[in-house]
Amino acid sequence: MNYHIMTLFPEMIEQGLSTSIIGRAIEKGFISFEAINIRDYSGDLKHHKVDDYTYGGGAGMLMQAQPIYDCYKAIEDKIDSKPRVIYVTPQGSVFTQKMAAEFAQEKDLVFLCGHYEGVDERVLEEIVTDYVSIGDYVLTGGELPAMVMIDAISRLVPGVLNNDESALTESFGNGLLEYPQYSRPEEWMGKKVPPILLSGDHKKVDEWRLEQSLIRTKERRPDLYEQYMIDNPPKPEKKKRKRKPKPETEGE
Ligand code: ADE
Repeated sequence: MNYHIMTLFPEMIEQGLSTSIIGRAIEKGFISFEAINIRDYSGDLKHHKVDDYTYGGGAGMLMQAQPIYDCYKAIEDKIDSKPRVIYVTPQGSVFTQKMAAEFAQEKDLVFLCGHYEGVDERVLEEIVTDYVSIGDYVLTGGELPAMVMIDAISRLVPGVLNNDESALTESFGNGLLEYPQYSRPEEWMGKKVPPILLSGDHKKVDEWRLEQSLIRTKERRPDLYEQYMIDNPPKPEKKKRKRKPKPETEGE
């Protein structure tokens, strides 16, 4: 997976993606990224201006179309294909684990990070394939949302997590929140680890974990619980067939 991030603050992206699991995945070559400064594509050679006033009036400045378009074209030329282009904006669809899994299938992903009051609509129409938000609140710029998405997508890229399985069993992997987990000691502050987890009975442990996931999801995320129940309706219990009573034979 190769990320191409169009931004006015490349150093923010470079710092954000250089540590921990993502930093290691980059070192090992499972993912790569380039943070491209949109300002380098400004037509204004003197001041490298990339924003201007909004037609029709209104507060704030707007990012202009031309530098963003030229920046994008340079990426397209470099990779010699038409990638998906994600514009991170509070006006987009809310990012989900399902979207992360879909994006993780791509070879290249381009992110456009907005600033100021937004971006000239014409360049968005020209290059953007996906409008994505990380939630219903407004941040000062698109860099943090882009990094949030890159983190969530990257951990689904094969090789990035040490244990590939953990991406499957954790929260949302099956549409439910993860069950509670415990480590040593067996008792802490008078609280004991649920005995079933010490039983060694894997089937029982799995059943208990699913039950706990259901309880937790119902309580904390009723929206997810409802969807899970629609997707996985409880199986109707098999009716036990009543044995026919033996006909009484005469003389008995
Ligand atoms: N830019 C500013 N706020 C944002 C949000 N909530 N999601 C994505 N991009 C944003």
